[in-house]
Amino acid sequence: MPPHGLADAIRGLIAESYAGANVTIPHKEAVLALCDTLDDSARRAGAANTLVFDGGQVRGSNTDGQGFIANLRDQGALPTGPALILGAGGAARAIAAALLSEGIAVTVTNRGLDRAETLAAALPGVSVLPWDQREAALADMSLLVNTTSLGMQDQPPLTFDFAQADSGLVVADVVYIPLRTRFLDTAAERGLRTVEGLGMLLHQAVPGFAAWFGVTPVVDDEVRTLLAAGIPPYAT
Ligand SMILES: NC(=O)c1ccc[n+]([C@@H]2O[C@H](COP(=O)([O-])OP(=O)(O)OC[C@H]3O[C@@H](n4cnc5c(N)ncnc54)[C@H](OP(=O)(O)O)[C@@H]3O)[C@@H](O)[C@H]2O)c1
Repeated sequence: MPPHGLADAIRGLIAESYAGANVTIPHKEAVLALCDTLDDSARRAGAANTLVFDGGQVRGSNTDGQGFIANLRDQGALPTGPALILGAGGAARAIAAALLSEGIAVTVTNRGLDRAETLAAALPGVSVLPWDQREAALADMSLLVNTTSLGMQDQPPLTFDFAQADSGLVVADVVYIPLRTRFLDTAAERGLRTVEGLGMLLHQAVPGFAAWFGVTPVVDDEVRTLLAAGIPPYAT
């Protein structure tokens, strides 16, 4: 759907008595202006991915950060030490806000430094690192997260040198098409713990589903296997 069709699409869903909707790229920021109320998660992320239609009113929230944390927790991989986020787009901001809420120190690095600085200005407590220092900074990190679109299907892979990594480093990717990225495989080859992006996708859907249908779904192996069956395991 083109960006200019967003308002009509939402009005159409409300007219057809939908309970709500998920919003994805490239509409997550633009949809804020169409919401009547925003919760803290949407305000802090500067974007919404979950809408609840309530008596004609649109309530917006952002469950990406919550989904990221829930997935790490589910897998027993949520560290308490500092995190380095690669990228400074919408996913990075939602994840940075959620990590800060967990009391985890956050550093952001981005190809375009100005975007990382904008993110840090919106989220006090976030530190900024020049892009060319991302590998050297790894020694001090407990968590490394790729939130760039590199590695996604039809994009170049994200190459990364993990030589400086502590053996306890957890490496997470938000990319979920393909299921396994070269970034994760390189980390795994060094013996590091890796976390795929599909788990975040599943967990970010839980709060919306609960609000729309009154049932809180459980993210288990059966759901994961069902979804994974439709996703290429490696880049084609
Ligand atoms: N698993 C999930 O549930 C989930 C949820 C949300 C998003 N995602 C995924 O997260 C990814 C990012 O989404 P987004 O909404 O944050 O996108 P976005 O706002 O467009 O941000 C894209 C980021 O990727 C960086 N980037 C793009 N090409 C690059 C390159 N060649 N070299 C270095 N950096 C590059 C951009 O850097 P510049 O600023 O320098 O351009 C920016 O930081 C997508 O793959 C999306 O599918 C997954």
